[in-house]
Amino acid sequence: MNLKTHQLSAAVFWLLIINLLLTPPLPAAGEEGDIYSKVPEKMPEKMTPLDCARCHYDIFMTIKNGKGAHRFPCMDCHETFHSFRRGMKYEDVLPKCTECHDYPHGKSPDMTACKTCHQKPHAPLASLDIEQLLPFCGKCHPGPAGQLKEHPGSHSKLSCNACHNKYHGNIPKCTNCHGTPHTKYVDNKGCVKCHPAHMPQDVSLPSNVPNNICAKCHPEPAKILAGSKKAHSKLHCVFCHSYKHGFIPKCQDCHGVPHPQSVIEGFKGCLDCHGNPHDLELAGEK
Ligand code: HEC
Ligand code: HEC
Ligand code: HEC
Ligand code: HEC
Ligand code: HEC
Ligand code: HEC
Ligand code: HEC
Ligand code: HEC
Ligand code: HEC
Ligand code: HEC
Ligand code: HEC
Ligand code: HEC
Repeated sequence: MNLKTHQLSAAVFWLLIINLLLTPPLPAAGEEGDIYSKVPEKMPEKMTPLDCARCHYDIFMTIKNGKGAHRFPCMDCHETFHSFRRGMKYEDVLPKCTECHDYPHGKSPDMTACKTCHQKPHAPLASLDIEQLLPFCGKCHPGPAGQLKEHPGSHSKLSCNACHNKYHGNIPKCTNCHGTPHTKYVDNKGCVKCHPAHMPQDVSLPSNVPNNICAKCHPEPAKILAGSKKAHSKLHCVFCHSYKHGFIPKCQDCHGVPHPQSVIEGFKGCLDCHGNPHDLELAGEK
């Protein structure tokens, strides 16, 4: 026996051993029983969605967890199924959204590719993804988008999703970002009556704003007004500073010309004699 044949027979020996180890034993009859001694449960003639779900588990669960309006029997949408064959187009055996819905957002090319936004046909609302939606917000919501654009302020620099985050339709609290606002936060309604959400810098003042809100930032005139005994002290700041924040009325807007020309001649204005509008002490009255 030369060295070569010795090596060869050793290799053959080990191959045989490995082969033995890897080969599974033949099923010993009787151990698991003869599978053909049993009869399988037949798929029912008319399958229910639960039957479909035995194979299409994920789809069933998507519909179930989506909690949307598509929770009706599979076959209502899939009148035919398991009909896909070689040479066919896959999408031709599947239902089309437009068969039931037409084109709810119009026929512009952006809006006809339903699955760009409704990513899962079986849970069309739950699968709306706000990142995918972002390029289209303004198409469906021209009002907010227009305000942000036409009234450039700090909010215009933010993406829609910086505020409407997490899921489509989510409304943020102002205090998510404005931790300690200048008035007490109760709800957004309290803020947006002066600051429309999409153009907050364009402050509009309702006619019933209490003076203490203005006093926070304008303590001086507020103090003077509150301490005055004259008729103006009964008025709301916004009765005079109406319409827009920062608006300054003219005395004549309300009083016309109350004195004969001869009385006021030589004076620059009403305040020469009436002092401060928030106080109205005539010169020398105190
Ligand atoms: C509201 C209608 C509707 C219902 C209900 C529905 N489907 Fe579908 N299904 C569709 C549409 C539409 C598509 C095709 C989506 C596409 O174009 O990709 C589809 C695609 C499929 C597909 C192939 C694509 C994939 O996602 O694998 C399977 C499989 C399927 N559905 C199974 C089911 C089963 C099972 C049920 C019930 C548990 C069911 N469907 C309920 C509308 C429906
Ligand atoms: C025994 C398993 C099984 C059951 C039960 C079953 N399917 Fe399928 N189905 C498959 C397989 C496998 C495919 C091909 C691979 C795939 O697309 O997932 C398929 C594909 C599909 C498709 C896409 C392709 C086509 O040809 O239509 C639809 C739609 C579908 N099934 C709907 C249903 C519906 C509805 C039911 C219940 C009425 C159902 N299936 C029950 C296994 C099953
Ligand atoms: C076989 C008919 C059918 C098909 C196909 C179908 N739907 Fe529906 N869909 C309905 C019905 C019925 C409702 C519930 C009534 C309604 O809102 O019109 C519904 C509701 C919806 C809703 C509303 C809200 C909710 O709670 O889920 C959306 C969104 C929707 N479908 C999107 C789609 C999309 C996207 C497709 C294609 C991937 C599609 N549908 C395919 C029948 C269908
Ligand atoms: C650009 C993204 C986008 C595309 C593309 C899109 N949708 Fe929608 N769809 C939405 C959003 C967002 C809603 C609003 C959901 C809500 O009410 O909260 C919606 C709502 C719906 C609704 C329920 C409310 C309604 O208006 O009737 C249906 C049904 C619907 N879409 C079907 C479709 C169908 C069918 C297509 C394709 C022809 C489609 N969508 C394409 C984003 C889209
Ligand atoms: C700085 C945060 C912020 C940004 C940025 C923002 N929003 Fe809003 N949005 C809000 C708040 C807060 C409300 C609730 C306002 C209210 O209660 O009156 C709201 C309300 C809405 C509403 C429902 C009420 C309405 O006015 O129609 C829509 C739709 C909307 N936003 C869309 C958008 C879109 C689209 C964009 C981007 C173009 C956007 N928003 C950018 C904070 C924001
Ligand atoms: C395909 C049209 C469509 C697109 C795209 C779309 N929306 Fe909407 N959106 C709707 C519809 C429809 C409603 C529900 C109708 C309603 O309540 O006014 C809605 C509701 C909302 C609401 C809640 C309104 C309320 O009063 O509670 C907000 C906020 C909103 N969308 C913001 C956005 C933002 C931000 C984007 C982009 C990331 C966006 N939407 C994209 C159609 C759309
Ligand atoms: C996602 C964060 C965010 C939310 C939510 C938010 N804001 Fe702002 N807002 C900002 C930022 C950032 C600025 C600019 C820096 C600053 O003043 O803090 C700003 C500025 C402002 C300004 C100053 C005017 C301007 O254009 O600079 C007002 C007023 C304002 N926000 C009011 C509101 C009100 C009211 C709400 C709720 C309806 C709200 N904000 C919700 C982020 C937000
Ligand atoms: C009565 C009207 C009114 C109400 C209600 C109101 N604000 Fe203001 N807010 C103003 C005025 C006026 C200014 C000053 C604007 C300027 O500087 O030109 C202002 C300024 C701001 C500013 C920018 C300056 C600063 O203080 O940082 C922010 C942010 C702000 N408000 C947020 C809010 C929030 C959040 C709420 C709700 C909790 C709210 N505001 C409620 C009238 C109001
Ligand atoms: C958050 C602080 C803040 C609040 C609240 C606030 N203001 Fe102001 N206000 C300012 C600032 C800052 C200015 C100066 C910058 C400007 O012109 O916008 C100003 C300017 C004014 C001016 C113009 C002053 C001038 O010299 O031209 C008037 C008038 C005024 N505010 C009245 C009010 C009234 C009335 C209220 C209550 C409804 C109010 N403000 C609430 C901060 C505030
Ligand atoms: C009867 C009408 C009237 C009422 C009420 C009133 N104001 Fe004035 N206010 C004026 C007039 C007029 C001027 C302009 C005075 C001038 O031309 O120098 C003025 C000026 C101002 C100014 C700018 C000059 C300054 O004094 O700083 C501020 C700020 C102001 N008012 C805030 C307030 C606040 C805050 C309140 C409520 C606490 C208030 N006003 C109530 C009429 C009024
Ligand atoms: C937005 C309207 C408005 C403006 C602007 C206004 N007033 Fe008046 N003023 C009133 C009202 C209302 C009264 C109370 C009238 C009454 O009781 O008959 C009043 C009362 C007065 C009185 C009587 C004081 C008293 O206690 O009897 C004087 C004086 C007066 N105003 C001067 C002025 C001067 C000066 C200005 C400009 C600096 C001015 N007013 C601006 C609405 C206004
Ligand atoms: C030369 C000083 C002087 C000038 C200028 C002046 N007033 Fe007077 N005004 C008076 C005096 C004095 C009274 C009477 C004292 C009082 O009733 O408190 C008075 C009274 C008033 C009254 C109360 C009248 C009433 O019937 O109760 C009003 C309102 C008034 N002035 C508004 C104005 C207006 C508006 C201007 C500017 C167009 C103005 N005044 C300019 C000195 C002046």
